[in-house]
Amino acid sequence: MNVVETIAGVRELVRAERRRGKSIGLVPTMGYLHEGHLSLIRRARTECDFVVVSVFVNPLQFGPQEDYNTYPRDLNRDARLAAEAGAAVIFHPAPAEMYPEGFQTHVEVERLSQGLCGAFRPGHFRGVATVVTKLFNIVTPDRAYFGEKDAQQLALIQRMVRDLNLDVEIVPLPIVRESDGLALSSRNTYLSPAERRAATVLYRALLRGRDLIAAGERDGRRVGEAVRGTLQAEPLVSRIDYVAVVDPETLAEKAALSGRVMLAVAAYIGKVRLIDNIRVVVD
Ligand code: PAF
Repeated sequence: MNVVETIAGVRELVRAERRRGKSIGLVPTMGYLHEGHLSLIRRARTECDFVVVSVFVNPLQFGPQEDYNTYPRDLNRDARLAAEAGAAVIFHPAPAEMYPEGFQTHVEVERLSQGLCGAFRPGHFRGVATVVTKLFNIVTPDRAYFGEKDAQQLALIQRMVRDLNLDVEIVPLPIVRESDGLALSSRNTYLSPAERRAATVLYRALLRGRDLIAAGERDGRRVGEAVRGTLQAEPLVSRIDYVAVVDPETLAEKAALSGRVMLAVAAYIGKVRLIDNIRVVVD
């Protein structure tokens, strides 16, 4: 696997492929790849000739009390898995390559970055929007692949691409789950065995909400309360940041349920903050 650490280096590779008429796919990641990332890479490979996977733990999207320093990293493993899934190159810049001395330009998606996770992680989405814009400018992909697990991130990037007329197609892919329903996340590695068992409560809570809707409930507040009740019944849930019933694109709260609806949660299992969501179409 070709691991490139410089912006000039990855640009040169991409330009050479473009000259040969090849299409470019980008899968932006922070590394420690799991099956969710691999599903993005495999899909990218079916749609693009040359797939770049970025592995960059982006300091700009971590708060001062967050896990930037301890975020799991294993570049050799990532390189092997990415190659097996069909990637041609890993772009792995150092923080100083992306944010050299004097860096001061940021991208802000104003409203979409405010609610849900944005309310609890100030500056997070500004960091995400900034690094993703930079990656788009560096790699100039035809298509970029994002998982639906980070639903707010996805909505915000789609908005940003429209607002700034960025010439890239965003391809969203469904959440990949363990057999017991836990959504895959690099942060699942922080969970103790007991916490790992308890963590399935996020998906169970979302399914409870979905079942209520399937049974005819159309009051978003009541669905939200049922989801929250399921989370609260799990003793290892130490804090609930939010339970939301929203439009998946605008992230606006839905009081009366119709059309496309997303149920989303963020909760702590012990000290580990997890997010999850489920999408339903209500007739
Ligand atoms: O989803 C992630 O892993 C990150 O937020 C992303 C999109 C790679 C930006 O750092």
